[in-house]
Amino acid sequence: MRNALRHEKRMPLPASSIPPQPALNESAVAAAESPETLALLARRRSTKVMLLEEPAPAPAEIDALVALAARVPDHGKLGPWRFVVMEGDARARAGAAIARAIENDPGVDEQRIAHARGLFLRAPACVMVVSSPVESKKAPEWEQVLSAGAACFSLLIAAHAMGYAGCWLTEWPAFDARARTALGLADHERIAGVIYLGTANAPVLERERADITTRISRY
Ligand SMILES: Cc1cc2nc3c(=O)[nH]c(=O)nc-3n(C[C@H](O)[C@H](O)[C@H](O)COP(=O)(O)O)c2cc1C
Repeated sequence: MRNALRHEKRMPLPASSIPPQPALNESAVAAAESPETLALLARRRSTKVMLLEEPAPAPAEIDALVALAARVPDHGKLGPWRFVVMEGDARARAGAAIARAIENDPGVDEQRIAHARGLFLRAPACVMVVSSPVESKKAPEWEQVLSAGAACFSLLIAAHAMGYAGCWLTEWPAFDARARTALGLADHERIAGVIYLGTANAPVLERERADITTRISRY
């Protein structure tokens, strides 16, 4: 819990502190009591993107986060997602690409174009999780899309466990085919989320939550 909620500056955890993934058919972990994991889930909170600043996960840490996120349940072993890392100058290049996609829209103003240009620059690093479903007799597209959503959450939780704050946003590029193309997505692909990562520069407070008592039943 210490790391997940902290907002002060921190030294990154070495990515090498993550255990190696099991090799094929090697014994894997089916269950492991972990009070720290439960505490992280019980108290997790997204951080507003405008509160995210350096340090962000270093490139090797982002690689490690992506490797962890790719361990999500995945019916048919299809890997129906991919991860596009936007660090450093790439954030500005991606923003420029989506700004170009909308700059000739009727009525578009300079403020909107500037916002598009700066979209990915709001946090020091981001990872776009792309839902990339494939033809399958086994796994319907719905399951493949859910797997991509799970990858978003795994990545965010893993980042918290590494001591970084973050949030999962889609925003307008997810719903604008021209922006998706500008970001390199194929027609059948969708943005499952952009996970913005960094360190919170202010404390993050709890928000109102859905009333779980009205959302649980037993069949
Ligand atoms: C698929 C998905 C897309 C989201 N997109 C946005 C978004 O575009 N803008 C936004 O303000 N919040 C968005 N959110 C919500 C935030 O990620 C966050 O969950 C919310 O602010 C509640 O905070 P919490 O995560 O601390 O409970 C999205 C959440 C999900 C699951």
